[in-house]
Parts: sequence; C-alpha cells; structure tokens
Amino acid sequence: MNYIKDQENLKDKNILLRLDLNVPLKNKIIIDQTRIDKILPVINFLIKKKSKILVISHVGRPKGKINKDLSLKPICKYLEKKINQKVSLIEEDIFKLKKEDLFKNSKDQIVFFENIRFYKEEEENDLNFSKHLATLADMFVNDAFSCSHRAHASVSRITEFLPSYAGLQLETEINALKKVTSEIKKPISCIIGGSKISTKIGMIKNLIPKFDNIIIVGGMANNILDYLGNPIGKSIKEDNCKSIIDDIFEKAKTNSCSVIYPEDVVVGKNMNDKARIKELNEVTNDDLILDIGPKTIDKIKNIIEQSETILWNGPAGYFENKHFAKGSYEIAEKIKKKNIDNSIYSVAGGGDTIAVLNQINAINNFNFVSTAGGAFLEYLEGKELPGIKALN
Ligand code: 3PG
Repeated sequence: MNYIKDQENLKDKNILLRLDLNVPLKNKIIIDQTRIDKILPVINFLIKKKSKILVISHVGRPKGKINKDLSLKPICKYLEKKINQKVSLIEEDIFKLKKEDLFKNSKDQIVFFENIRFYKEEEENDLNFSKHLATLADMFVNDAFSCSHRAHASVSRITEFLPSYAGLQLETEINALKKVTSEIKKPISCIIGGSKISTKIGMIKNLIPKFDNIIIVGGMANNILDYLGNPIGKSIKEDNCKSIIDDIFEKAKTNSCSVIYPEDVVVGKNMNDKARIKELNEVTNDDLILDIGPKTIDKIKNIIEQSETILWNGPAGYFENKHFAKGSYEIAEKIKKKNIDNSIYSVAGGGDTIAVLNQINAINNFNFVSTAGGAFLEYLEGKELPGIKALN
C-alpha cells in the first residue's frame, strides 16, 4: 500500500480525496461532527502541500437520486469555518465536468462534489463513472476507512485509473486494527456487547483463535444465560441461537480461549426502572436484565488488569438509563486508568460504545476509537475490504 504522507511533489496536483463525511443530519443541521473533525489532518496536509483538493463523499442512502436533504452543503460550511478557508460545492452534473472547469480561480484550493450517491453509478461500481472521475484528477486518496467495505466507484473501481494512496486517517485506523488482529501484544481480551449475537458472530469466531479472553456482555449475553439454563425473564433474546453458541464454545475450547459471560445481573421491571442486583437464579418472569452485576464487573476488571491489549465493541447494559450504566462505565474507567498508566493498548468501536465514552469523558483515554460501523466489524471478521484491497 502506498501512503500519501510519503509523497513529494503534490503541489498543484488535483487530488481526488474520498472521505466519509456521512454524518447524522437533522433538518440539514449536523448532529455530530466527529467524522469531519477526524479528516482535518489530511485536509491540512494537502493544503500545506499546495495541492488542489477534490473531495468526494456520500451522506445517507439517496439510492442514485438527488435528495436535497442529503446535500453536502452543511458539511462544506462547517469545514469552511473549521479551516478558515473557502470550500466550494460543485452542484453541476459530474458527467459534464472537465478538468479545466475546476479550480478556475487560482485561489480555490478545495472543492466538493455533491453527494456521490446521487449518482446510481457510484454504488454500481461503474467503470465509465470511475474513468470519468479519474479524468478530473492526477491522484486518488482514500481516507475513508469506514466506506472501504463498499465496492463502490469512488472507493474501489477508481483505483484502476489513477495512482492511488492511503490517507492519514485510513493509515491510523488500519495500524490500530492490526494491533488487535495481526500484530498482537498478549494477553489480549475482547469485550463484546450490544443486543444481537448474530451480528457479531463472524467477529467472535475470527477473534477466538487469537484472543485469550472473549467477554460477552449486554443484551447478547442473555442468549448465553438462557442457553445455560438460567432464567432471563422478559429480557431481549434472539431466536435460534443454539448453534451459534455451540460454535462459540466449541471453537473457544479448541483454541484455549476463555469465554466470559455474566455471573450476576442487574434487573428492572421496565427500561425506566431503578436497578436491582440479582444472582442468576433469582431472575423472575417479569424481570428485564439490563446490566451486569458487581461480581461480573470485578471479574472483567481483573481480566482488563491482566491484559496488555483490549478491544471493546458494544456496551454492557442499557446505559441510556443511568441506573443500568454502571457496568459500561466501570469497564471504561478501568481501561482509562490502565491507559493513563500506559499499561494497555486499547481500541474501541461502535456508535453505542463511543456514546458511553463520551458520557464519561473517556474518549481520549483510548489509543484508538473507530468511527467506522460496518467496515470495523467486517475487518474484525477477517474479511478483505474492497477499498483496502484496491489500494494494495
Ligand atoms: C457508515 O456510516 O458506516 C459509512 O458511511 C457507510 O455507509 P453505508 O452503510 O450507507 O454504506
């Protein structure tokens, strides 16, 4: 893989820069800017190199049709303020553009194309669309790890027509993920939470051979408790999970990986209730399991204490109600403490995990926090991502 940071002579070169500026918008107002803030390094790098920057991104899923609510206009405005430099949005049909139409004013350095998913050719990974995009630039940079699981024109096919490089953020993201997949410092443990075990099974199975401990918490742990014959009351649970759990236990045994699940729980009668700690056999028919109990928290903290590397994806409970947030907060605090002591390498990912870290101001105490959703999971499942494959 070639990296843009190693390239000389970028002055006056048109750089087609694929970013993931797919931020949540409500009435055209940005709700969370994290993804925009994360790409500032590559923008500043290219500004300094005096390149001409052509930004491509999508927002939402307009399915090949123009949708004014999914315009990149608010994102351009935000970026303009952030870098204190003019950012122009080209709204014309990309197919009608020629290289000489861009950067007509010599002072222009950053132009955005409108939402690339307004063109159906993008998701079709269309050859002619990619070819045309390539005529507008001299080089291509992918700084959108979180889109790299998509075989789309501006992510993968484009690399067939331009010299292509990994951006700064993509490089950071892959280096962090390598530390939990291939360049591991052991002991390594993983905390996996969230509601559906079926969505994480690929990841769990791929990690078991490499990990010392797989800790299963959150709603998905209810499936394991139920499988082992414990009462789970009216807690969430997925149907037909027996073979998935059989698989996990079998694979873990073959690979000497410990599978840890709740030893005690915190229940409520509904989501707005207060917390009651219970032993597993005390859960009644009208109980909802909404967090892990104190014995489980201690056990997890001990494992974190003994780990050199930790990966966390998915909260331990229903943290949206503070009565059921203790499990997630204590896990975060323990990792934070080890991070301050410099005695652990920590990677976290997933929207809910990031929300937990933001609530207790722990986001900067992780070595890496991924804003990628699908791409993060697919990478951890061991899949080759089309956008990364294309760069390789
Ligand atoms: C994401 O938010 O995960 C990326 O922007 C990809 O979006 P998509 O799931 O709509 O392809």
